[in-house]
Amino acid sequence: MAEQRENWSGRTGFIIAAIGSAVGLGNIWRFPYVAYDNGGGAFMVPYLIALLTAGIPLLFLDYIIGHRYRAAPPRAYRKMVRSAQFVGWWQTLVSFVIAIYYAAVIVWAGSYMFFSFGQKWGEDTTTFFVSDFVKHTGDLTSVFVPQMFTGLIIVWALAMLIMFGGIRKGVELANKICIPLLIVLFGIMVFKAISLPGATIGLNAFFEPNWEKMKDPNVWLAAYGHVFFSLSVGFGIMVTYASYLKKNTNLTGAGLVVGFANSSFELLAGIGIFAAIGFMAMSTGQDVAEVASGGVGLAFFVFPKIISTMGSSGDFVGFLFFGSLVIAGISSLISILEVPISAFQDKFDWSRKKAVGVIGGSCAAISIVAFSTGSSLVLVDVIDHFANNIGIVAGGLMSIVWVMWFNRQKIPGLLAHINRISSVKLGGAWVFMLTVITPTVLTIALGLKLIDLVREPYEGYSATILLLFGWGIVVFFGLGAFIFTRIKGRHDDEDDQARLNDPTL
Ligand code: ALA
Repeated sequence: MAEQRENWSGRTGFIIAAIGSAVGLGNIWRFPYVAYDNGGGAFMVPYLIALLTAGIPLLFLDYIIGHRYRAAPPRAYRKMVRSAQFVGWWQTLVSFVIAIYYAAVIVWAGSYMFFSFGQKWGEDTTTFFVSDFVKHTGDLTSVFVPQMFTGLIIVWALAMLIMFGGIRKGVELANKICIPLLIVLFGIMVFKAISLPGATIGLNAFFEPNWEKMKDPNVWLAAYGHVFFSLSVGFGIMVTYASYLKKNTNLTGAGLVVGFANSSFELLAGIGIFAAIGFMAMSTGQDVAEVASGGVGLAFFVFPKIISTMGSSGDFVGFLFFGSLVIAGISSLISILEVPISAFQDKFDWSRKKAVGVIGGSCAAISIVAFSTGSSLVLVDVIDHFANNIGIVAGGLMSIVWVMWFNRQKIPGLLAHINRISSVKLGGAWVFMLTVITPTVLTIALGLKLIDLVREPYEGYSATILLLFGWGIVVFFGLGAFIFTRIKGRHDDEDDQARLNDPTL
């Protein structure tokens, strides 16, 4: 007997969970360096355009699909039209893979939260991270890293505990604890950062526009890719979260609150981090450009260095920063995990316990085995790059093409669904964005990225690494989605019948 589909306690519970999902590692360490690398203040222009033309419209599409068809992506899309199940599985598998490495980054942050006390990273923060902590060799290695193993066990045990609790008593409760805590910790950290001497030097560098950069198509791709990752759209999370909403929920109102909260958090993270970088630049007499570096580096090489220049009060700032990263990471990790767990519950009528045990358990096992080794840095870097730039962008693009192009006749029904229950009504502008603007931009961006990746091995990694963990996971998304689509689900006949009975569905 199938379990009844759970739901959020109300709209507020859903909004808090959706903000918890959106605000994650992407906001705190990714946004500041992506913005800085891609034109500083000028990046706000492509960022806002990407948010308004693709992020928010796609967020609404995810909400409609999840809420109208009340299922995780594979079943939700299949309920609309059979062939779209492929899109749902693609998105589900992207989430499965992201969860595996996302947990490892949370463990890095969690470890640094403790390293903050006494500033264990010493003088040379890069060597400490690369050699002493993650035991990176630049290649694949099975060297065992006990600290990563212990951290991963803790993170996964916590995540599984939350997932076993279900939607209200697990996911919603965890978010209701995490979000206020995050706001307090992060608020104090930003406040401390902007009160530092030299903060304005960093803020000027962050906001100083470099208009030249706007001619570079990569800047636009970075903006679109980041907005999707950050808003949690294109990889099934918002479809799944919306499927647990009650029948009459103001969807567009909720979406605008979530989008606004996510972008505000992102901007605040940029301000906090660059204020701290300005302080460091002033204390060491360096240029901001010399202090700031991208990606993993900003959070784990540069930030500890900044903390060290603060003397013993830096311990507390480090604790606040890395603590915020852990909390934001956990509330996003559970949303990423919810996608495959819910998809398997839908497909095979598994109980919550079984789905969490089998799917969450497999994710945890792969993550613990792969990331307790000296290969964790290589794996995070390569998998993150391919899963985001290809997996998520293609997932978003496919959902748009399947719904807005191949099944245009469904659009009036989808619009009627959201407009009946929402305060802000969608109409021609939303349809135009998703039919013309977004797919055009995404197709160009994705095409250029693919050419780039084929021409130049990403970050100079060996062919074996890129084939196994870069292109390999893209093949896994496609092949896996194809196979799962072919396997008959427990509700397929019933869903086909429902569609026959009601062609407007
Ligand atoms: N949206 C989540 C983040 O920003 C995945 O990290």
